[in-house]
Amino acid sequence: MHNGTTITQFIIEEQRHIAGATGDFTSLLNDIVTACKVISNYVNHGALVGALGSAGSENIQGETQKKLDVISNDVFIKSNEWAGHLAAMASEEMDEIYPIPAGKPRGKYLLTFDPLDGSSNIDVNLSVGTIFSILRCAGGGHNPTERDFLQAGTQQVAAGYAIYGPSTMMVLTTGNGVNGFTLDQNIGEFILTHPMMQIPADAREFAINASNMRFWEPPVRRYVQECLDGKEGPRGEDFNMRWIASMVAEVHRILTRGGVFMYPMDDKMKAKDLGGKLRLLYEANPMSFIVEQAGGGSITGTERIMELQPQSLHQRVPVILGSRNEVERILAYHREG
Ligand code: AHG
Ligand code: MN
Ligand code: MN
Repeated sequence: MHNGTTITQFIIEEQRHIAGATGDFTSLLNDIVTACKVISNYVNHGALVGALGSAGSENIQGETQKKLDVISNDVFIKSNEWAGHLAAMASEEMDEIYPIPAGKPRGKYLLTFDPLDGSSNIDVNLSVGTIFSILRCAGGGHNPTERDFLQAGTQQVAAGYAIYGPSTMMVLTTGNGVNGFTLDQNIGEFILTHPMMQIPADAREFAINASNMRFWEPPVRRYVQECLDGKEGPRGEDFNMRWIASMVAEVHRILTRGGVFMYPMDDKMKAKDLGGKLRLLYEANPMSFIVEQAGGGSITGTERIMELQPQSLHQRVPVILGSRNEVERILAYHREG
């Protein structure tokens, strides 16, 4: 039996310190938590509920959708459209914004999400997750448009992710540090297990898809080469490498034991006129908020991600995040050119 703090209790207690809090935000987070529990249940049952494999469709980024991408997107919409806290939602799996339909009450918040991150991992039974970000909607949210979503990451009210791994966890920030909760499947509650998570400032582990090495820009090549050179190289220490192909899982590892995650700009993306691989509004910004709140850094290479002014809903950006001193080193390499 647990007698720890449930996520609901935690959020309510946190909101009590905020003057003028109406309970709207607490209630919105509760609906998000419910959605993640439902997705966790689908992920967990996998083939037993026919949830694996391709949906036979493509999203706006031209990626083939998995059944679970579509299921998770529907779950998020159903859980969050009814209560009256949101003006609109936006997701990796929807071309346009999703204003709360007429007939349902609209609220003052906007929700962006990647319903299933790392979905190439789903059929091989490795960790996947859900990423979300909450913004305020200007003008009270009566008539939301795409422009309302184009806010810098520094404007986020809250951000979090759920990771569906050996245990299901929810990691959350409202701007007062980062807290991690583990789902107790027996009672259906997330319990606070990882209070005030902190990323070690130094680490000797990096994550990058090395199959893109020939396209990398010089600063990234330099950083990775120096890691690979180990004890005999300029860093004078051996490094370890990981690549899970699920940003949620990589960020979770970094929050737990430090390290750097990179999906940097490269020549292949430039040739296709892509701004990067990962999406700013529902991948890079929420993860940057979490990482910074845990003492880490998050940059494009030359700029702080959370200060970027978004230009479009599905905009992509290069992402380099993790242990502060390593991220600062990579920033310096970019500035040196
Ligand atoms: P998604 O499954 O939501 O499309 O995101 C996958 C992302 C990210 O989670 C991961 O780090 C990266 O794409 C993996 O890219 P590669 O397949 O190039 O390794
Ligand atoms: Mn993703
Ligand atoms: Mn996704």
